Amino acid sequence: MKFFIDTANLAQIKEANELGILDGVTTNPSLMAKEGIKGSDAVFNHYKTICEMVDGDISAEVISTDFKEIVEEGKKLAAIHPNIVVKVPMIKDGVKALKWFTDNGIRTNCTLVFSAGQAILAAKAGATYVSPFIGRIDDSGWDGMELIGQMAHIYQLQGYKTEILAASIRSALHIVKAAEMGADVCTCPLESILGLLKHPLTDLGLAKFLEDAKKFS
Ligand code: G3P
Repeated sequence: MKFFIDTANLAQIKEANELGILDGVTTNPSLMAKEGIKGSDAVFNHYKTICEMVDGDISAEVISTDFKEIVEEGKKLAAIHPNIVVKVPMIKDGVKALKWFTDNGIRTNCTLVFSAGQAILAAKAGATYVSPFIGRIDDSGWDGMELIGQMAHIYQLQGYKTEILAASIRSALHIVKAAEMGADVCTCPLESILGLLKHPLTDLGLAKFLEDAKKFS
């Protein structure tokens, strides 16, 4: 399973990248706004900086909702760097745009996916990645991981090439479950990635080893 970080914060991207396990970055308009980035020039420069920092796929989300406008915006985003993946919402014009991008060699990430039906449409349109929002599904009283399993089963059965990118990750356990359920990629906040490190027996064991090491060093 590939690891992406789900943030537009450069310090967090740097920290995850330095761990050596990072395969890419996903952003969205909310994450860009959180960093105080305003105006299309600033947004484009921010994506460029991220592309220069991380050698992997960088999802840049369109804010247009009309087919022609999504295509124009997506073309501009894709021109920033070869690693840019254009993130398109799961709406009717978005599906049309996904197909256009597929036919024109531009890689895509279909976002805001909450059902197997939406995942099938995105795959049919040739999306490179599809992003089911696990945490938000859980928040609404459904089971996000069940959707990952259902999607993995359908994609394998039907031979779809679209990669399942588990998004809206809230914990280290979500990452483990996404791996178990067959996600191809997990995009996570830095805190959840670092959460994978934690185990009290590791801390206790290391403390004992270091204590014993004093006896012979
Ligand atoms: O990037 C999309 C997704 O990961 C958003 O997560 O935590 O806002 O539901 P969240």
